Amino acid sequence: MENFIFYNPTKLIFGSGQLAALPQELEKYGKNVLLVYGGGSIKKSGLYTEVTEVLHKAGATITELAGVEPNPRLTTVRRGVEFCREHNIDFILAVGGGSVIDCAKAIAAGAKYDGDVWDIVLRKHIATEALPFGTVLTLAATGSEMNSGSVITNWETQEKYGWGSPVTFPQFSILDPKNTFTVPRDHTVYGIVDMMSHVLEQYFHQPTNAPLQDRMCESVLITVMETAPKLLEDLESYEHRETILYNGTIALNGMLQMGYRGDWATHGIEHAVSAIYDIPHAGGLAILFPNWMEHVMDENIDRFKQLAVRVFGVQDSGSSDKEVAQEGIRRLREFWSSLGAPTRLADYDIDATNIEKMAEHVMSRGPVGNFKSLSYDDVVSILKASL
Ligand code: NZQ
Ligand code: ZN
Repeated sequence: MENFIFYNPTKLIFGSGQLAALPQELEKYGKNVLLVYGGGSIKKSGLYTEVTEVLHKAGATITELAGVEPNPRLTTVRRGVEFCREHNIDFILAVGGGSVIDCAKAIAAGAKYDGDVWDIVLRKHIATEALPFGTVLTLAATGSEMNSGSVITNWETQEKYGWGSPVTFPQFSILDPKNTFTVPRDHTVYGIVDMMSHVLEQYFHQPTNAPLQDRMCESVLITVMETAPKLLEDLESYEHRETILYNGTIALNGMLQMGYRGDWATHGIEHAVSAIYDIPHAGGLAILFPNWMEHVMDENIDRFKQLAVRVFGVQDSGSSDKEVAQEGIRRLREFWSSLGAPTRLADYDIDATNIEKMAEHVMSRGPVGNFKSLSYDDVVSILKASL
């Protein structure tokens, strides 16, 4: 293993009715709360009413930032930063999915920086302080509820980048599986693809002595694959929502990635696609990931074979290592497709027009991919194979 320090200060408050813990958590901060949420799902589900009632009872003064977009935009973050200054905000509460939480993280850091918050996303300015914030998660997918990462889109320049800082871990995150009951089927599927992709990004690392990490990654993948079809049969199953919610958090809270660096090239390529076409993050991943795998497979065929045998149950007798590896990729694609995830960029009416632009975007922040460092031409090939 490589040397590592594991740091994750987020308090995870998990289970049915755990919103009741909110007043006690808020006591530690001031009373001026910025409530950040998305396009209205929390109003439809009734969660907005529940949260605002709790906030009022706790004596909070609420300023609202509503309408955070899926693939949250810089303009919305800037608006939030202004609200923090105008209303002297003490604490930010994000109620929603990864987009709402990522937006809140950027606002929290931006509010403590005199320059433009885009400098932070571009890593021209390294955030060293942030307003405290907490989350009430409504969608199992990104792991943003228990990590310090945030992904923001500058729609004017068509750039979408991830950034993060030790100061942008949520202080607490409340995860009640019931708050995910209303997630529609398509976003439930995207969430499942996203959390599996996070595990795969980490699974593909250069060989180090990480047998436990491998087994933990495989366990998450197998558990999600066992649960996903059952959840899609019954979107209001507490048990299956609970399993998926917990897996989503574990997949990207740093637990699986101790002692090595994951690859993360596919996420970089997807961000370039959704920066231009504004598609759901994991819709892009479902298309790109198997093509990335086929492109880089020869880098370390044993790792692909291990995945195929241990996770996808491929028999390894009588076939070459490459055939076993390829069968694993085929089964991954088939699994995602069986859930209803897209398989080609054409499913989103994306053609070859912007391939060069997307590849330039991917390469714009230096080398991409730790399992295999991709060149511009590699990225173009993966995008072309995905059309
Ligand atoms: O906006 P509202 O009305 O809330 O509706 C949302 C949105 O339309 C809806 N939704 C959320 N919870 C719901 C619900 N609908 C009904 N009932 C509920 N309980 O779902 C839609 C998608 O929400 P969004 O937050 O965009 O999805 P997700 O959690 O997948 O977040 C995607 C964003 O996270 C970034 C992605 O790039 C993308 O911008 N990522 C963030 C990461 C991180 N911070 O660690 C890592 C990821 O790899 C990812 O890149
Ligand atoms: Zn992701």
